[in-house]
Amino acid sequence: MQYGFGLIGCGRIANNHIKAITSMDSARLAAVCDIDDARLAAAKEQYGCQTYSDYCEMLKNPGIQIVNICAPSGLHARMAIDAMNAGKHVLVEKPMAMSLKEAAAMIAAAEKNGVKLGVVHQNRFNKAIVKLRRALEEGRFGKLTHGALTVRWHRDKNYYDQAPWRGTWAQDGGCLMNQSIHNIDLLQWMMGPVESVFAYTATNAREIEGEDAAVAVLKFKNGAFATIEASTTVYPCNLEETLHLFGTTGTVGVGGVAVNKIEAWRFEGVDEAVVLTDQDKEPPNVYGFGHYDIIRDFTDAVASDRRPAVPGEEGRKAVEIILAIYHSVTYREEVKLPLTEKFTIGVGI
Ligand SMILES: NC(=O)c1ccc[n+]([C@@H]2O[C@H](COP(=O)([O-])OP(=O)(O)OC[C@H]3O[C@@H](n4cnc5c(N)ncnc54)[C@H](O)[C@@H]3O)[C@@H](O)[C@H]2O)c1
Repeated sequence: MQYGFGLIGCGRIANNHIKAITSMDSARLAAVCDIDDARLAAAKEQYGCQTYSDYCEMLKNPGIQIVNICAPSGLHARMAIDAMNAGKHVLVEKPMAMSLKEAAAMIAAAEKNGVKLGVVHQNRFNKAIVKLRRALEEGRFGKLTHGALTVRWHRDKNYYDQAPWRGTWAQDGGCLMNQSIHNIDLLQWMMGPVESVFAYTATNAREIEGEDAAVAVLKFKNGAFATIEASTTVYPCNLEETLHLFGTTGTVGVGGVAVNKIEAWRFEGVDEAVVLTDQDKEPPNVYGFGHYDIIRDFTDAVASDRRPAVPGEEGRKAVEIILAIYHSVTYREEVKLPLTEKFTIGVGI
């Protein structure tokens, strides 16, 4: 079967979705929606698909089975719930929602309507990450002792000025909720579940409501811990996004500009030099190569009625950790998980 896709939000990330959809035999770009007329006109000319300025109108189109949400983050929950109530499967960009209440409502809407809900954490498909995950599942690390992640990126004033939603508490958050959520997702996928969080954040250099720098310590239920260091003020350009895992019998470091390149691979009996020479090239930008894989996986999940690689329940986990970090900063205390739904972004900050 060929699935009709409807995409909401024709901005920066939409191209990665459209490129994937239009290159898959099992997918067809049926329609796009945006409130910006110029972007709609450009999409119509380039892809010849139907266009809508009101996503609720697009949801009435019976030729659409899957809706990809690429609109500002603060709109994800409302759009996703409306789409699922209209009987569509939904693949939503990260962060899936701005609060746990929203995330819970999205997960409930998928359940109620018998449709799939997937979250775009495409870095789970990075070749280096797939290899790391396999090593972990095979027990090659022994007992995990600790981990560390960095997101050392550059987002200048022009980046934040290009759309009014960027850096706001209502629609975006800061360098954790926007840029670092992918790596936090990977960290918790490898080491979770998280027991508690303590953090500092700051808005050092950019005129935004959210944070442009953060450090946090995570304690996991398995006794391991990890550090997070994230910022969007690294001068003068993106430096790296790294994930390190340490265990009693293994050490792995994945770096590159977007956690795509193995930098250390140490297990007993392994020739690290061979692993390090057998590498993918750096992606052209920090979005990486994973959108094709995650959209293909989601389409397969719909076709075969199985769980997608990153269902709503998984996407919720990184949101919960980031909200716990925000609360640790606000109340200057260690925050224990699970959080209740009353924890929302920006409360008291
Ligand atoms: N997975 C990734 O690596 C990745 C990378 C970049 C962005 N994102 C996420 O994708 C989302 C969009 O980011 P972006 O950088 O493309 O933003 P953007 O501002 O470039 O694009 C958003 C688009 O949504 C449109 N829009 C706003 N309100 C709308 C509405 N009510 N109905 C229809 N369209 C509407 C805007 O006009 C704009 O064209 C964000 O949630 C962001 O976090 C994910």
